[in-house]
Amino acid sequence: MGKKKIYLDYASTTPVDPRVFAAMKPYFSQKFGNPSSLHSFGREAGDAVEYARRLAADFFRCDPLEIVFTSGATESNNFAIKGAAIAFTSRKNGKKAKPHIITTQFEHSCVLETCKKLEERGIAEITYAKIPSDGIVRVEDIKKSIKDSTILVSVMYANNEIGTIQPIKEIGKMIKAENTKREKKNLPKILFHTDAVQAVNYLDCKVDNLGVDFLTASAHKIYGPKGAGCLYIRKNTPIRRIQDGGGHEFGLRAGTLNVPGIVGFGAALALAEKERKKNYKMAEKMRDYMFARILKEVKGVKLNGSKIKRIPNNANFNFRDVEGEGMLLGLDMKGIAVSTGSACSAGDLRPSHVLTAIGVNEEESHGSLRVTLGKYTTKQEVDYFIQTLKEVVVRLRKIAGK
Ligand SMILES: Cc1ncc(COP(=O)(O)O)c(C=O)c1O
Repeated sequence: MGKKKIYLDYASTTPVDPRVFAAMKPYFSQKFGNPSSLHSFGREAGDAVEYARRLAADFFRCDPLEIVFTSGATESNNFAIKGAAIAFTSRKNGKKAKPHIITTQFEHSCVLETCKKLEERGIAEITYAKIPSDGIVRVEDIKKSIKDSTILVSVMYANNEIGTIQPIKEIGKMIKAENTKREKKNLPKILFHTDAVQAVNYLDCKVDNLGVDFLTASAHKIYGPKGAGCLYIRKNTPIRRIQDGGGHEFGLRAGTLNVPGIVGFGAALALAEKERKKNYKMAEKMRDYMFARILKEVKGVKLNGSKIKRIPNNANFNFRDVEGEGMLLGLDMKGIAVSTGSACSAGDLRPSHVLTAIGVNEEESHGSLRVTLGKYTTKQEVDYFIQTLKEVVVRLRKIAGK
């Protein structure tokens, strides 16, 4: 009999839901046309893309014309930030101050690296708002960072390592009020972007409720395929395309569309909407059960980030006197998959920038473990994980002489 395998790393990616896969399947070999082609094969594929666009628009409550399909969140985040900065610097409006962008210290690397690039190339000035120990940015800190030259605020909706939920609606309201004042002074409008990748499964992502101009989502975090996602762009928002080539997606993106991926993304969004409440409740119940047992049954453990304001499937623990890598490998040997930080930084031995941002010291950071549950997680799996974790922690502490 094969070894039991348990997946508790849903923040890094999710399996494709069989219903999503069924929707995608015809678009690989039967309905394989290029949606840009004018013949019937192309039209068939094009219709499927437009249907997925309507599903996405229903999900985010926007116009289908405001959805641009991309290869996933990395591209969407690059596009929103670089595209808004370049649109501003390309404007022919006399005196041009260097655009200023506000983001936070604990965004995903694809936001932070994009901002760093703009800074290094002298294209934009960036402020990285600090994150208090509860893992929640303060609206006041964003507000205080605003300058006359600010053109964009980019704050993630839920953090991918510690799961904490950011006050997006409140930031949206604050920016709206600031923009009203700025209009009178003829200052540039501040655009608002949120990376909602980790929020789509569980939180309200209706763009008008959030007050965002851009929103990033990715299919593979919501039981859809890898390599597909979108950027929501509010109508009349200044943005420049960042790829050169064909004029796909209303002229905003180049590259043949990933039709099966887009079809799968649309189907995954529709399911996420339909099953949100059920998935939320189930994940929360299971996660809280796991919290309670681990905090009670393992010595020297604490939680990273706020316990209350976090998405329901995330737990990020800090174990005293144990290395996260050691725990991960020990659990992996028993068939259990968890993470020490974001998937993108796996193999990188530097402490997680997210934990550093919330003030976790280097030593503690190395003892951290992220456990993220999903809609296929069972109580038996959680019980087996807790039992194995206890054994692994005891063994590692013993080896370390603790
Ligand atoms: C918050 C967040 N943003 C962006 C990404 C990148 O997503 P993608 O794999 O779709 O490029 C991830 C994936 O880990 C993420 O968690």
